[in-house]
Amino acid sequence: MAKVKFSSKAGLIAATVGSAVGLGNIWRFPAETQANGGGAFLLIYIICMLLLGIPVMLAEFSLGRGTQSDAEGAFKKLKPDTKWNIVGILAITASYLILTFYMVVAGWTFEYMVQSINGNLFAGIENLNKMDASFHNKMEEFICSDISPLISTYVLIAINFFILLAGVQKGIERMSNWMMPVLFFLLLIFAGVSLSLPDSVQGLEYFFKPDFSRITPQIVVNALGQSFFSLSLGMGILITYSSYYPKKTKLTHTALTVSLLDLLVAVLMGIIIFPAVMSFGLEGSQLRGTTLVFVTLPEIFAQMPASQMWAILFFLLLLIAALTSTISVAEVTVAWLQNTFKQTRLKACCIVLFPLFILSALNSLSFGSLSFIKIAGLNIFDLLDTVSTNIMLPMVAMLTCIFIGWFVSPEFLNNQITNKGTTAQRIYPTIAFIIKFIAPVLLLLVLVSAFLDL
Ligand code: PHE
Repeated sequence: MAKVKFSSKAGLIAATVGSAVGLGNIWRFPAETQANGGGAFLLIYIICMLLLGIPVMLAEFSLGRGTQSDAEGAFKKLKPDTKWNIVGILAITASYLILTFYMVVAGWTFEYMVQSINGNLFAGIENLNKMDASFHNKMEEFICSDISPLISTYVLIAINFFILLAGVQKGIERMSNWMMPVLFFLLLIFAGVSLSLPDSVQGLEYFFKPDFSRITPQIVVNALGQSFFSLSLGMGILITYSSYYPKKTKLTHTALTVSLLDLLVAVLMGIIIFPAVMSFGLEGSQLRGTTLVFVTLPEIFAQMPASQMWAILFFLLLLIAALTSTISVAEVTVAWLQNTFKQTRLKACCIVLFPLFILSALNSLSFGSLSFIKIAGLNIFDLLDTVSTNIMLPMVAMLTCIFIGWFVSPEFLNNQITNKGTTAQRIYPTIAFIIKFIAPVLLLLVLVSAFLDL
């Protein structure tokens, strides 16, 4: 059977950008920027993305498109009868672990969208001075309860199931084709609103003007980790998606487009958040993950005219970002089961998504009835988050670079990423050099720093 492919260039870009753009851009990036010194972090983040993110993305694209296989199959095809396929298995494991808790967060965004639509989000919030506490209590009450977050998580698992079952073209590609333009449109609207706030110029200055005295080795490590997470590297996602790229797809061009669009979303989020930070006098703690999106932003919306409309639009944006990412993570295992174990798409979707009814429940309940379970001081959710994103992701990315740089013939990478006589051919030596030497060393540093943090 011929391998399925994305049907158009726009479709494959939309799907890949859909994977890259996620909660990492929307709530992790602003918080990381604030915690790491504003403009200086942005500058290093951009350098990491261009100098390291894109070459590593090209390594993953070459593996996927060059072998037409899944995250494990790609390693097996290039080096059969070796243990290299373990890297693929690690990637699949990391992506599945991520899925178990990312689905829960995606569920929360769904619940908040529903609450914005039916008006419950702002119900009972009258005293403007106590608003922060009210939204905070609402969030805690919701996240720490057992039943409602679980129901929303289950709704998200069901949506994922149907989209994945519809297939690569009719499910993933079709969904991304209309969701990604909506996402960019919503971001532009919010950026416009934020720029009209009274202290927006100070916010923009904080975000765009680097203070070089704040640059430390730790900031570089953090920026590198954030850029890899944001580009969905090291999880087998890009290997899997690029196996659906047609032969004629220009990989260098695609990697550049995807990275720049992912960067654009992060920058737009900075343009949205930092003017608000200055205008509403927010503090760092108000920008941390769940607080930013479920407490701070609703509080800001409540002070604007048409609060409910802004809340609905924002949670729709968040839901789109989360959904297109969960789909891409789940597809890694679906594709693996289809390729390696010759399962039908229906069976593969069932095997991937049904266990999530239990595994995601463990994550969801780790804020409620199961909060007493603590390993190394972390609940189940935080433990899986730390292990998969801080440790497994850089490890897989590093091993992938070592594999492509040292164990696969240089012609393989060269054939995949260059078209004779084009710019790509001229920059090939630089890309190969980064994959071979620079990326593995820096990723090792990220890994060591993650271990020291544990
Ligand atoms: N790039 C995604 C993001 O920024 C990373 C990711 C995708 C993480 C899917 C988990 C799951 O959110």
